[in-house]
Amino acid sequence: MRFDAVMPMRLRHGVGRRHAPVVVASSRYDPVVPSADLFDVSPDASVPEALVARLRAAGCVFAEDEAALLVGASIDPAVVEELVARRVAGEPLEALLGWAEFAGLRLEVEPGAFVPRHRTEALAAEAARRARLASEGHGRPAVVVDLCCGVGAIGAVVAESASPVVLLAADLDPAAVRAARRNLEPRGGRVFEGDLYDALPQEYAGRVDVLAVNAPYVPSGEIAFMPPEARDHEARIALDGGADGLDVHRRVAASAVRWLAPGGSLVIETSERQAETAAALLHDGGLDAVVVQGDDVTLVVGSRPSA
Ligand SMILES: C[S@@+](CC[C@H](N)C(=O)[O-])C[C@H]1O[C@@H](n2cnc3c(N)ncnc32)[C@H](O)[C@@H]1O
Repeated sequence: MRFDAVMPMRLRHGVGRRHAPVVVASSRYDPVVPSADLFDVSPDASVPEALVARLRAAGCVFAEDEAALLVGASIDPAVVEELVARRVAGEPLEALLGWAEFAGLRLEVEPGAFVPRHRTEALAAEAARRARLASEGHGRPAVVVDLCCGVGAIGAVVAESASPVVLLAADLDPAAVRAARRNLEPRGGRVFEGDLYDALPQEYAGRVDVLAVNAPYVPSGEIAFMPPEARDHEARIALDGGADGLDVHRRVAASAVRWLAPGGSLVIETSERQAETAAALLHDGGLDAVVVQGDDVTLVVGSRPSA
């Protein structure tokens, strides 16, 4: 597996009462751990070509890399064969390995929990950048919330590249919460199980500097067209955003201003198609909103006015 560099992003437009200048994510995002080689897999003679061919025939684009990872997952050939058979049957590679690479970090995953996507590295980088600015601005660790955290990918990047921070994360899915605890607690984070803000300690209301959210945003009617790896192996709650894909965003936007500190920001991932509506939701929630467009991801950033 290889690190996918985040493509240059550009500020598209602002929505809100005031359009404070927003410096968007840097044009390149460097992995927080300078060890991309850790995840580079060089096919070698110990990976049978027949195995690579089976994976390729099953539609695995990086069949050589996947074969090497699966062969390396166990010294027992019977176990490897079982993993390959399950991969050929469509199970996500990361669920079989028990880990996923995200922004240079090796994160634990759980069957059924959402596997972090590389495009979300842009959100994580932007959240970390804002956390560093907030810490520098008020001279104490920023309070960062990874809401709908899944296995805690965004929080892990923030902890690795913006510490010291006060890191809170929450998700409704018990499998995601289990993995997030394993990924975030060693990095100083705390993980809560529950519905959106209800899961968070009330003492942080009005004190959050960065609210980073990658919530489900696939319209219900489009789930059927997703790749089987997602459709059949990830929890529906991780994917389904309701009729227009923005049900969870609506709820996040409606209460964000109550949780954000003055000057704090909500960074939320969406699609280019949904961005205008998402930005309007943040604006209706009392935030100044801008859309940040990347090549393969769209972020909407909402800021709580300072005064
Ligand atoms: C698209 S996944 C993203 C996970 C993680 N943020 C990431 O980027 O890897 C959405 C996550 O939102 C969680 N979720 C959905 N509805 C939720 C709710 N009402 N409260 C908390 N978490 C929720 C799902 O369980 C899932 O883990």
